[in-house]
Amino acid sequence: MSSQAAPLRVLAIETSCDETAAAVVDDGRIVVSSVVSSQVDLHARYGGVVPELASRAHLELILPIVTEALEGAGLDRRGRPLDGATGLGAVAATIGPGLVGSLLVGASVAKSLAMAWRVPFVGVNHLEGHLYASLLEQPELELPVIVLLVSGGHTLLIEMEGPGRYHLLGRTRDDAAGEAFDKVARFLDLGYPGGPAIDRVAHEGYPGAVNFPRAWLDGSLDFSFSGLKTAVVNHVRANPDISTPDVAASFQQAVVDVLVAKTFQAAEDRGARGICLAGGVAANSLLRVRAERAGAAVGLPVYLPSPAMCTDNAAMIGAAGYFRLLRHGPSGWGTGVEAGMGFEAEGEPAAS
Ligand code: KG4
Ligand code: ZN
Repeated sequence: MSSQAAPLRVLAIETSCDETAAAVVDDGRIVVSSVVSSQVDLHARYGGVVPELASRAHLELILPIVTEALEGAGLDRRGRPLDGATGLGAVAATIGPGLVGSLLVGASVAKSLAMAWRVPFVGVNHLEGHLYASLLEQPELELPVIVLLVSGGHTLLIEMEGPGRYHLLGRTRDDAAGEAFDKVARFLDLGYPGGPAIDRVAHEGYPGAVNFPRAWLDGSLDFSFSGLKTAVVNHVRANPDISTPDVAASFQQAVVDVLVAKTFQAAEDRGARGICLAGGVAANSLLRVRAERAGAAVGLPVYLPSPAMCTDNAAMIGAAGYFRLLRHGPSGWGTGVEAGMGFEAEGEPAAS
């Protein structure tokens, strides 16, 4: 007989934007199964996510995706363990920030399953979920780390001391980094999603072609990207024959310069043991190379999540949900969703 206790197994659901995702995670650290269905093709022709289409697609996809995640963990569609597999101990779902109609689909399904299976429900802040991407992939990671969380909606610098213990050090004062990539890509007619398109085109351009402004905001770890976006628009309008790859490369260089400098400043200020990148923009090839190079220069480990862990997935929600359950217990059956849920300073994100 094994003396090891059975792990606490969490089914997690993520539907905050345009990915329908479900995963099974043991003890907040081991990803047993993870399924992600992206709606990117559905929204591409509109040049951005259409909220109502996203909710409808989540509704159609959610149960097949949950079933696939359950089967991948040796559970039947009713959550019952087959052949000695570990049973579920909780169901977690993202409850904000995100698109309300999309969040409602995942949270409603998660609560219903938790109630039917008589296990706790845990509501998870999507931003807190992103913090666990590197922890899931690099269990040896030493804390505290500085996490640069760069997604379509957020740009945050967070010190993570341990699960549930965070300090918010900086945030964008206007556009998120991903939003700037998306807006500049749209202006340059590079399509949607804009980040990967700029990343691709920038490889053919010269990053020193245009010296776009960097908003250093001296003495602060906050960011600002809207001035840069305006500078790109003004420059292209004044120089209509300029090469698009040169503009893309110069813009990307300006964003990455600021992101990397402020992240390493934060690590120095706080005496961090490492740096983690998280969120969709963490897939950016220049950001990854520059962060690694800067880490090597000062002897700090830099943890780069795999592309699948950069973008939205449910495994990270399962990890955050597990640690939230340990610290705070289950969320109430009356828990709602919140489109603009923030990431609170000094400690707990605003999920309850
Ligand atoms: O984290 P995420 O998948 O969704 C949100 O929660 O927002 O991030 C999506 C964002 C989009 O703005 C997308 O353009 C950007 O991440 N992104 C990139 C790259 N891949 C995705 N930005 C720059 N370079 C990339 N390679
Ligand atoms: Zn995200």
